[in-house]
Amino acid sequence: MRGLVPALACDRRGGGFDRGIPTRIACSSENLADGAPDLSVSVNGLRLPNPFVIGSGPPGTNYTVMKKAFDEGWGAVISKTLSLDSTKVINVTPRYARMRSGNGPKDVIGWENIELISDRPFETMLAELRRLKQEYPDRILIGSIMEEYDKDAWEEIIERVEATGVDALEINFSCPHGMPERKMGAAVGKDCDLLGEVCSWINAKATVPVWAKMTPNVTDITQPARTAIEAGCEGLSAINTITSIMGINLDTLRPEPCVEGYSTPGGYSSRAVRPIALAKVMAIAQMLKSEYPDRNISLSGIGGVESGDNAAEFILLGANTVQVCTGVMMYGYPLVKRLCKELQAFMAKHNFTSLDDFRGTSLQYMTTHTDLVQRQQEAIRSRRAARKGLASDKDWTGDGFVKETELMVSN
Ligand SMILES: Cc1cc2nc3c(=O)[nH]c(=O)nc-3n(C[C@H](O)[C@H](O)[C@H](O)COP(=O)(O)O)c2cc1C
Repeated sequence: MRGLVPALACDRRGGGFDRGIPTRIACSSENLADGAPDLSVSVNGLRLPNPFVIGSGPPGTNYTVMKKAFDEGWGAVISKTLSLDSTKVINVTPRYARMRSGNGPKDVIGWENIELISDRPFETMLAELRRLKQEYPDRILIGSIMEEYDKDAWEEIIERVEATGVDALEINFSCPHGMPERKMGAAVGKDCDLLGEVCSWINAKATVPVWAKMTPNVTDITQPARTAIEAGCEGLSAINTITSIMGINLDTLRPEPCVEGYSTPGGYSSRAVRPIALAKVMAIAQMLKSEYPDRNISLSGIGGVESGDNAAEFILLGANTVQVCTGVMMYGYPLVKRLCKELQAFMAKHNFTSLDDFRGTSLQYMTTHTDLVQRQQEAIRSRRAARKGLASDKDWTGDGFVKETELMVSN
């Protein structure tokens, strides 16, 4: 029966399942409809009822909102990024600024934030993660973490977050603002030497699967992605936000978001970043396919997902799961029901019964510009050849007789 699936929390080294008791996974009723395409997905030994994951950020800041996400049917929840000492994390307000399309104030296409990682006490967040895992043992909860360039700090945070029972860790190597000033986040994610060293500390310590969350603010995202895999990470998430300045107020000449008259570059998200995110996910997926075909590295696509069709695009380019952050801030937790329904409608249209039926299918249609030129020249050559005339007398047709005659006239 659909909906009765084992809660698979697997040993990250590929060993036996340690909590394999079959339990009912609560997910959207649409997901369970008889005959509907199956949205469930298995990544790194974790079984999700659907591929929609709450991306790290405000939608995973505390027990109440993460519980709401599970109750609404999200496939997994990633907490807001935690660090050991939250007293060093001091947020400002306002911390968001929006880009509108011009089609009215409600049509938001881009979102800048200068929010830092979680400013809630570490112990409080640990207690809340523990409580969530106790109340939702068969749902997938992922702890997002970040620390300073300090092996002991990384070992401590991993041990304490894992002790809450989280199913996996996502490492935030990608926050573009604030944290790099402390040599954290994107400061590590952009420096492959540093990244490799920190990932090796993390993977020597962690006993659950580790996803490395990549920054798009680099020339070639496959380089840090490769470094993270070589250092033992089982999954990659892409993308975090893109460095941005929302704009300048032309009356006050002050940049947005404006805090006491000043601003700082922040991170851009939402619909406008989706094409960039798709390109980064495609680049990582191609690299995984050609360099690590047997490693089963999972890929979580992130950036501007607001519909099931958007999710289908990420999956077609090779993503296993799809994260949503700003979309939840704009449309609320019930969004997942529409996402599931729309993704199933896409699958039904193409007769896909599972996500594996189409995951990565569109990758084969991505190539180099040189190859595009060659393909076009070949196509032109064959069209010209076809125009030269009939190959054989049997090809004459009644309706096209005059045209066919003209094709073979030389003057
Ligand atoms: C307000 C805000 C806060 C965020 N905080 C975090 C964070 O703490 N850790 C993290 O890894 N990503 C954080 N992100 C990045 C998102 O998880 C996501 O990678 C990015 O916003 C792109 O996805 P989206 O367009 O669905 O929002 C944050 C994003 C926003 C908008």
